[in-house]
Amino acid sequence: MLDAHDDLLERRLAALLERDRFPPSDAFRAAALIADGSAHAAAAADPVAWWAEQARALHWFRAPERTLDDADAPHYRWFADGMINASYNCLDRHVTAGLGERVAFHWHGEEGEQRAITYAWLLEQTQRAANALKALGVRRGDVVAVYLPMIPEVVVAMLACTRIGAVHNVVFGGFSPESVKERVEASDARVLITVDGARRKGRTAPVKAAVDAVGMPVARTLVVRHARSEDCPMSGRDAWWHEALAAAEPACPAEPLPAEHPLFILYSSGSTAKPKGILHTTGGYLTQVAWTHKNVFDLRPERDVYFCTADVGWITGHSYVVYGPLANAATSVMFEGAPDYPHKGVWWELCERYGTTILYTAPTAIRACMKWGPEHVERFDLSTLRLLGSVGEPINPKAWLWYWKAIGGERCPVVDTWWQTETGAITVTTLPGAQDAKPGSAGTPLPGIAASVTEDGLLTLDRPWPSMLRTLLGDPDRYAATYFPHGAGTYVAGDAARVDADGYLWLLGRVDDVIIVSGHNLSTAEVESAIVAHPKVAEAAVVAQVDADTGQAIAAFVTLEGDLEGDDALVDELRSHVARRIGKLARPKRIVWADDLPKTRSGKIMRRLLRDIADGRELGDVTTLREPAVMEELKRKVAERRTADGD
Ligand code: WTA
Repeated sequence: MLDAHDDLLERRLAALLERDRFPPSDAFRAAALIADGSAHAAAAADPVAWWAEQARALHWFRAPERTLDDADAPHYRWFADGMINASYNCLDRHVTAGLGERVAFHWHGEEGEQRAITYAWLLEQTQRAANALKALGVRRGDVVAVYLPMIPEVVVAMLACTRIGAVHNVVFGGFSPESVKERVEASDARVLITVDGARRKGRTAPVKAAVDAVGMPVARTLVVRHARSEDCPMSGRDAWWHEALAAAEPACPAEPLPAEHPLFILYSSGSTAKPKGILHTTGGYLTQVAWTHKNVFDLRPERDVYFCTADVGWITGHSYVVYGPLANAATSVMFEGAPDYPHKGVWWELCERYGTTILYTAPTAIRACMKWGPEHVERFDLSTLRLLGSVGEPINPKAWLWYWKAIGGERCPVVDTWWQTETGAITVTTLPGAQDAKPGSAGTPLPGIAASVTEDGLLTLDRPWPSMLRTLLGDPDRYAATYFPHGAGTYVAGDAARVDADGYLWLLGRVDDVIIVSGHNLSTAEVESAIVAHPKVAEAAVVAQVDADTGQAIAAFVTLEGDLEGDDALVDELRSHVARRIGKLARPKRIVWADDLPKTRSGKIMRRLLRDIADGRELGDVTTLREPAVMEELKRKVAERRTADGD
């Protein structure tokens, strides 16, 4: 916890050097949906009843009479007797209300292509896709894996599943086909929806060919034609998405489903090598995602243009690209590409072009833009922006201030939103018209959420909330043991935090073995087991090292088999080995050859000491170390490596 204290001091200092509170402007407050403490107060008086009230904003085929059922805690149920359908709430409801021609997504392709995706178009495509899935034998409760880039079809694929009660399992396009295979196997997916090729910075990756190469264990695949990849083999179990949709019946009414019907599975890193299949259900998830999207972003759907830069393959994409915005009939910008292609100002170009009013992005992207320099921002007119959001990791006050000044023109409140794949929706932040922001602090628990910090500095959520995960797929015991180690009433988030005198939470990072690289969660155990799977490797220990750009980066200490010697060629080989197994973002930034690893007398690797050397800090307590000499040797090697890497 020592590092955590230093970090906190640094942040406090940075906050004091500037101003430490940023209230919304009078103009923002005057127009805000929530401009005072009334929502917090109403929810505090009776949180369960308050959530029942918020659920009424949705369309229910049968309105729930029950709200929270804690009979089987920590397996909580919300609105269990209600009947609902997510795609109905995201599409039919708006089209019936006359909003069919409203743009749901201004889709912008890498090469500047534009598509205006309306609610009517999404509804039409979703019904056809749902019928196409049925024709492939997909039934209610079946799992459908989705491995697609940021294209409108990914939204259609997700909503088509929900329409018929199938459960989607979206795998981030940056993960390797090996990872997709592992997730397909673990979730027992019958069908995979994928793409011919994915475009990335002017190049095309042959996705379908790569999927075939690993031997994907699904009965059928649907393939979206997007990149016109020449390398796209099609066999008997494959069908083209556009042909299947054209052949499908146009009408597929949304099925009324129980509120606790599974909506999706999303895999997340844990402290073992096995990713956790986080399961979310329908009614509670949609209630909280819709409420938070509307009120945290102060959304006026008839005039706002909202841009969330997250990929749909992460929870932020699920909740705040797809379900929240669509449930609220919002108009969004959806961008296929990377923030630096075709140029480093492309996000700001999109903000100007589409008149973006609300921007939601991650600290790692903000730091990259800061580094690229103001000239990429200043070329564009950002005067339509009125609110900024941040998610994924703690935002350092310096980056916060830059975001507020250079992007927000000192005019836009910044909401720093703390939440997790497990929480489903935002749980800690400031309501922008009602609360001041403090750079570096995420703010307070939202209405209906109770959070606190334990004596040993851990953040807990102290009451169930509607969008919480319901279980880990196939492993309810791991669910209870991981998140409720002290009993059903207290959810342990796995983050260290401090709370200040105003009740604001200061998040200090993960306490388990999860590394957050550019806001993407990776498990040390998963990366270690990928490295150890290489035939030349005997043992490996993976830790996070501080990184100015990505927040954290992966450092790997690797012991080779026998008397093999490590060299630069093997570094490259191991890095591409990890990229193949997990994905490029899991590649270690630094690999250090270690003859031995620091271990306790009982043989446990002491990652704490490895973190100290990776960051060049004084070593912490070494008294339990079996072979103290190991550390001197490693220190020397890390120093050599730093010199060789030029930092
Ligand atoms: C971290 C992403 C500080 C945290 C939505 C959490 C944050 C993990 C913030 C979840 C924030 C996310 N301030 N830390 N505003 N937002 N985190 O599951 O460590 O990808 O536990 O969900 O990201 O990451 P996940």
